[in-house]
Amino acid sequence: MNVRLMAAAAASVLALAGTAIAADAPTSASTLRALGAQIHLRIGTAAVPSDLSDPALSQITADQFSVLTPGNEMKWQVVEPQQGNFNWTGADNLVNFAEEHGELVRGHTLVWHNQLPNWLTQGVTNGTISDSQLRDLLHQHITTEVSRYRGRIWQWDVLNEMLADANPSQVKPTDFWISHLGVGIIADAFRWAHAADPEALLCYNDYNIAGEDGSNAKFNAAFALVRDLLAQKVPIDCVGDQGHLDLQYGFNPVLMTEDLHAYAKLGLKVAITEADVRMFVETTDSNQTPIVSPTDPTPNHTANPAASDWFIGMLQSCLAVKACISFTVWGFADAESWVPGAFRGEGNATIYDVNLNPKPQYTALQQTLSLAPGAPRRSRGGDRDREGDEGDRD
Ligand code: XIL
Repeated sequence: MNVRLMAAAAASVLALAGTAIAADAPTSASTLRALGAQIHLRIGTAAVPSDLSDPALSQITADQFSVLTPGNEMKWQVVEPQQGNFNWTGADNLVNFAEEHGELVRGHTLVWHNQLPNWLTQGVTNGTISDSQLRDLLHQHITTEVSRYRGRIWQWDVLNEMLADANPSQVKPTDFWISHLGVGIIADAFRWAHAADPEALLCYNDYNIAGEDGSNAKFNAAFALVRDLLAQKVPIDCVGDQGHLDLQYGFNPVLMTEDLHAYAKLGLKVAITEADVRMFVETTDSNQTPIVSPTDPTPNHTANPAASDWFIGMLQSCLAVKACISFTVWGFADAESWVPGAFRGEGNATIYDVNLNPKPQYTALQQTLSLAPGAPRRSRGGDRDREGDEGDRD
């Protein structure tokens, strides 16, 4: 680069950094989605119905993000609460909202052991649904849901959380789907989804599959799983690493980068799909609303330098791997986070505080994105283009 170009590049980085640091006066150029767009990286959040209807929440959902994942609204329990009785309201609202605001959609999730409708699990337990009927029901579920949104979903989490939390890890033999239908159901689920929407990117999604547990045990199992699927010519396009971190455990962004890179080398795209960084907090109400973090009892009590570092680390891992096409946080506001309900005594896991002020964790992401134009560029394949960027094979 000649001196003039270097000076111009430095000036533009400084200009961007300047806008980013002014987090109290955000301009549209300094939103997460605008900063991500410079490098064709989609920035996402999980959205629940109130994120789309509440004025303050929907403003942030529209302004800051360029891809949305329904927090619950596409799960089987929600879309078919009684057999044959469908409720697409929440899913339709989310897809419409996304399209109105120039956002893509990550469909979540088609095959998972959790949040299944009672009629299905009870039918299996009491024997009124046989294994072959269960297989047909799953085929029908995937076909119905994927067809409904055909052409409108960027990435589908076809399979969610099928690997054991063990070292060594493997596909869980006790998983609801595996125990009834065998491991062959994994390949079939991808084939059925592909038949219903050949353009959607189809992902395997799980937690701790990019080294978050330090041991790489689940990474090894996930890598073997997706490599075998590719060898069988199963239509799988991507690996989603959830990225639910907890300050009580370790986190190594170098390992995460290596692992994402390894998936990319297979020709897959990768995505961070559910990022948050939780910690123990003082509990003063039934929602365990974060008040004070024992690890950072400063006046600005939701600030936590380690949490900011870990958000930065996950984002940098994604930035370092060209095949990483989206970085999604699992909800942006502490008051709405799933963490207090799922992990006793923990919270403060998101990037906005309970009053919807951006936390330092937000600024950390914003500044990292501001400096990211120096990172490898994604192609425009970050939009719904399967031909665009062939992972990291080049
Ligand atoms: C969570 C939702 O956020 C909660 O509202 C719900 O009660 C339980 O599920 N991994 C996933 C997500 O893949 O679907 C989960 O979402 C969080 C963990």
